[in-house]
Amino acid sequence: MFTNFPLFPQQASAQAGQVDAIYFFMVAVTAFFSILIAGLVVFFAIKYRRRHRDEVGYAIHGSLALELLWTVIPFVIVMVMFAWGAKVFFELYRPPVGAMEIYVVGKQWMWKVQHMDGQREINELHIPVGRPVKLIMGSEDVLHSYFIPDFRVKADVIPGRYNVLWFTATKPGTYKLFCAEYCGTKHSGMVGNIIAMEPEAFQAWLGGGAASESPVAQGEKLFSDLSCNTCHMADSQGRGPMLTNLFNKRVELQNGQTVVADEAYLRESIVNPQAKIVAGFQPIMPTFQGLVSEEQLLQLISYVKSLSTQGAAPAPSGTTAPQMPQASDRPVVEKK
Ligand code: CUA
Repeated sequence: MFTNFPLFPQQASAQAGQVDAIYFFMVAVTAFFSILIAGLVVFFAIKYRRRHRDEVGYAIHGSLALELLWTVIPFVIVMVMFAWGAKVFFELYRPPVGAMEIYVVGKQWMWKVQHMDGQREINELHIPVGRPVKLIMGSEDVLHSYFIPDFRVKADVIPGRYNVLWFTATKPGTYKLFCAEYCGTKHSGMVGNIIAMEPEAFQAWLGGGAASESPVAQGEKLFSDLSCNTCHMADSQGRGPMLTNLFNKRVELQNGQTVVADEAYLRESIVNPQAKIVAGFQPIMPTFQGLVSEEQLLQLISYVKSLSTQGAAPAPSGTTAPQMPQASDRPVVEKK
């Protein structure tokens, strides 16, 4: 609508149109009533002005019909805004299954990106158009916020947890990235570029350059460097829970509760192992807080994720139940 207006960001994602539609609807409703009310104030001030010095106003006694009318109409309008807004909000908050995952770490004052294929970048993000992209974001230090105006998406990047932002770019181009949360001296310089490319060009970009090892491979290396593998063994003989097929499964805890082993749970179990003790295990794991960076945490997590067979339905529980011994180093598909 206003895409040629220089102060209004262009629409470059599949989400942008929906966000703009509700935005313009709300602006239109607000403008209409503001003008209507301001106009009526002026109109009534003139129409009912005092014409003689000794003129006295007369009392009015209200009108039930009028009261109902100006209660019901705004109610209906705000409920439309609420329902419509909730629908768009939920869509923006639920990344589709199968979206391309990319890790982002915010740090004073830069954005570090790690692709699953091993490509890394700083203050840039290369993505293919036409494919949902899901950013899994954490912070090394303080609150940041990842904001791409042309895509109409923004999410806080919070120390100690993971936040997700997803979008589907629709046209190739370079788009501005901003940090939208005041985070220190060089907050205003914490900017970057999103480079949306045709899928073939993106594949070529992924393959080119000095790609380091994939996060999974780096995580696997860390896993043995930090001696995680001395307790978390590939069979159920270890002193720590087995990690094979753990991701996104339900885990039974010592206190009787169950949790889903998602990224946040895995992260917490590394930096604060005592927070959730798996049923049947001793609280003997040391904390790795301060020993691994946010990026390394993401690498460890992607290694643990890689130990799970993709698309397996969540099991009710059973990470601690006796498992089939497995000699091979590959995850074995569980038959139910
Ligand atoms: Cu990071 Cu502002």
